[in-house]
Amino acid sequence: MRFRTQCLGLMSGVLAWAGAAPAHGGRQLVDQQCSGCHATGPDGVSTNPDAPTFRSLYRRYPVDALRESFLKGLQVGHRNMPRFKLTPQEITEIVGYLEDLNPCAKPSSDKAAMAACFSPME
Ligand code: HEC
Repeated sequence: MRFRTQCLGLMSGVLAWAGAAPAHGGRQLVDQQCSGCHATGPDGVSTNPDAPTFRSLYRRYPVDALRESFLKGLQVGHRNMPRFKLTPQEITEIVGYLEDLNPCAKPSSDKAAMAACFSPME
């Protein structure tokens, strides 16, 4: 019984951490590694005009699908993009962050997000 309680305690700790980490860590990672070329936040333009803004990525494909590409070394059709060595944990954080920028993934009660989701492409 004692073991079980500890195990549950550990699990909820891990879950709390997993829930809190992605958006925050992901933001830091993209600021460090991607913002040299991409606009990584909710507004702004990309430094490199060829690099899509991160907030528009969800319109191109399910952000989740990027995970696979990132694991292969970020070869998501980039001619001019450097290859990155990202750990699976870092990828989870980045994808979590990108998903966070997707207004269509928000609850439909979020009116601002729904307006953004259905607005024309920039
Ligand atoms: C040195 C500049 C540069 C850096 C740094 C950079 N990118 Fe890019 N990225 C580009 C360019 C340029 C494109 C557009 C390539 C194309 O369309 O051929 C691109 C495209 C992308 C795409 C879309 C690919 C597609 O097929 O539509 C994703 C996703 C992406 N980058 C993610 C990232 C992530 C995540 C990081 C940070 C870990 C990052 N990029 C860092 C230049 C960069």
